[in-house]
Amino acid sequence: MRLDKYLSNAGAGSRKEVKSVLKKGGVTVGGQIIKDAKAEVTGEEEILMDGVPVMLERGIYIMLNKPGGVISSTEAGQTATVMDIIEHPQKRDLFPVGRLDKDTTGLLFITNDGKLAHELLSPKNKIGKTYIADLEKEVSERDLMILRKGVPLKDFTTAPAEAEKLSDRRVKLMITEGKFHQVKRMFGYLDNRVTGLRRVGFAALTLDEKLGEGKWRRLTDKEIDDLKK
Ligand code: URA
Repeated sequence: MRLDKYLSNAGAGSRKEVKSVLKKGGVTVGGQIIKDAKAEVTGEEEILMDGVPVMLERGIYIMLNKPGGVISSTEAGQTATVMDIIEHPQKRDLFPVGRLDKDTTGLLFITNDGKLAHELLSPKNKIGKTYIADLEKEVSERDLMILRKGVPLKDFTTAPAEAEKLSDRRVKLMITEGKFHQVKRMFGYLDNRVTGLRRVGFAALTLDEKLGEGKWRRLTDKEIDDLKK
């Protein structure tokens, strides 16, 4: 990676700021002053700016409690995205793993680890996603049986889900697929309508209830280990 990009990605300043420090001889790579912004670095070298080590964070693992009204996209556009919430110097390398609908809230995992993301999104790994669905109408025992058995949707029949009735119109549902609007469509088949959807579990992660909507935090080492298992 170019030295100026490395420095600014690591939070040392804007591209313009780090270029100016570089020009003044304020940056050393492996003990040598480097003034060329285009010099290539791997990140293995000891890189100092004004005598202070500058390090890129390698694996970045974030839990976001997604609020409603923002889309799960990295593309900046008219609509606010989940990435607008995250403050990180390496933000451009980050992406959400999977998508939640604009009105869905809760656990969204954001990372720069493409390999892990690939594993977690691969259908063959049958990664569990747990939702709390609020419904327009009361849910019956028969509804729960259908959810547990598999719901015949237009394009496919869902794999058996875990379904627990939390109250008359609230269900905790764990599915292992992640098709477009899947939970809403599953309840639609049951002639019901989801009025509120919150994701509380994704793979080994459980939504941190202390994390308010719109807040994020880095995963703990244990959470990262569990996720990679
Ligand atoms: N299922 C849905 O219908 N919407 C979501 O956001 C996630 C799962």
